[in-house]
Amino acid sequence: MKTRIPSAGTPLLLNDIASATAGLWRHQIDRYISRLKSYLQTPDLCLVNSGTTAGYITMLALAQRSSRREVIIPAYTAPSLTLPIRKAGLIPRCCEVSLETFNLDHDSLDAAITSDTLCVMPVHMFGLASDVAAIRRVIADRDIAVIDDAASSFGTTVQGKQTGTLGDVGFISFNRGKNLSTLVGGAVATEDDELFELIEAERKKLPIANMTHQAKLLLNLTALSVAVRPVGYTLLHALISRYKYTSLHTDFVSFQFPDVLAGAGITLMNRAEAICDLRHRNGSFLGDSLQGLSGIRTPVLIDQTYTVYNQFPVLVDDPELRSRLVGMIFERTGVEVTKLYPDPLHRIYDMGYGGTDDPFPNASYMSDHIILIPTHPLIDSTTLTNIVDTIRSALSRGA
Ligand SMILES: Cc1ncc(COP(=O)(O)O)c(C=O)c1O
Repeated sequence: MKTRIPSAGTPLLLNDIASATAGLWRHQIDRYISRLKSYLQTPDLCLVNSGTTAGYITMLALAQRSSRREVIIPAYTAPSLTLPIRKAGLIPRCCEVSLETFNLDHDSLDAAITSDTLCVMPVHMFGLASDVAAIRRVIADRDIAVIDDAASSFGTTVQGKQTGTLGDVGFISFNRGKNLSTLVGGAVATEDDELFELIEAERKKLPIANMTHQAKLLLNLTALSVAVRPVGYTLLHALISRYKYTSLHTDFVSFQFPDVLAGAGITLMNRAEAICDLRHRNGSFLGDSLQGLSGIRTPVLIDQTYTVYNQFPVLVDDPELRSRLVGMIFERTGVEVTKLYPDPLHRIYDMGYGGTDDPFPNASYMSDHIILIPTHPLIDSTTLTNIVDTIRSALSRGA
């Protein structure tokens, strides 16, 4: 049987599961919050069940301080990002992305801002730092908040400051595909005490996971620790594929962060630097090896960043070669390279962008040309070298 390597994976150890189990009878969340606060260097932080919920309570809080209703997000990003915006009674609006940085194009931001803009949400796609300082310069003194979506970029820093703390408020995800995962989880961080009070008030309204729910989460965490490993993933693949999301989410569940996952978070934080460093090295290796090859584009990093790659994105000029590369890489290495996201937001939802011309051609280009190469710590350097060789030889053959 061919060994399969999943597109995402945090190496969870027995120690993490044991530490999580203690959460069934011990309160551990405060310790986990302290660890996260000191890692992120942020004064205020709270935990919930997902990045989506973290964004949701953040927007509920921001909406209480203003009558403006529009939230600007990159036109190419996780489609699920629109759900908390709408659920909070707000309106998602798109901004074009850059084919250099693969993130929100700050030169296009001014055109997206209106008198109804409540906030801009730069997203650090794939772990690549978005230029929040440039975004702030465009916003200037227009009283528009910046929500720093670091769902996929835990550990990435800009001038030594952690993503998630670069805006007025930020959030992180700890779901299965993220840089560090406790199965589910999300955090909101801010230095604005008044805003934090509003966010905390929203968090406290969320339901609390009961004992049965917590026991189920613990079982799923244990299953995840097996399923992310190549042997576990290969053996359980048929079963796991049944649980993979194949359709667009139309809603999300929210609950308070369960004690039973906090223990795993605490022990994972002991290894956070090592895990982030491996992701950084894997992504940097791919970047150095693939940069400048004709037929593909790799991201240009903004200055003074340390990038913790969630995945390494490559834009393949020829869409047909793109599809074949996914198959070729799997055949040669067993690694699951993906083509997410299949559509930009304005092609998925009716967001009021009429006309015949594509209003966000770069976002459409990204959706139609991207492949994402895993960078998680469960992928070794020989496998990465084989991926690079596969891409190089396919490009040189014009395969
Ligand atoms: C950019 C971005 N923001 C927010 C989220 C939501 O995080 P979660 O899956 O924890 O709800 C995701 C998840 O994929 C994401 O990629």
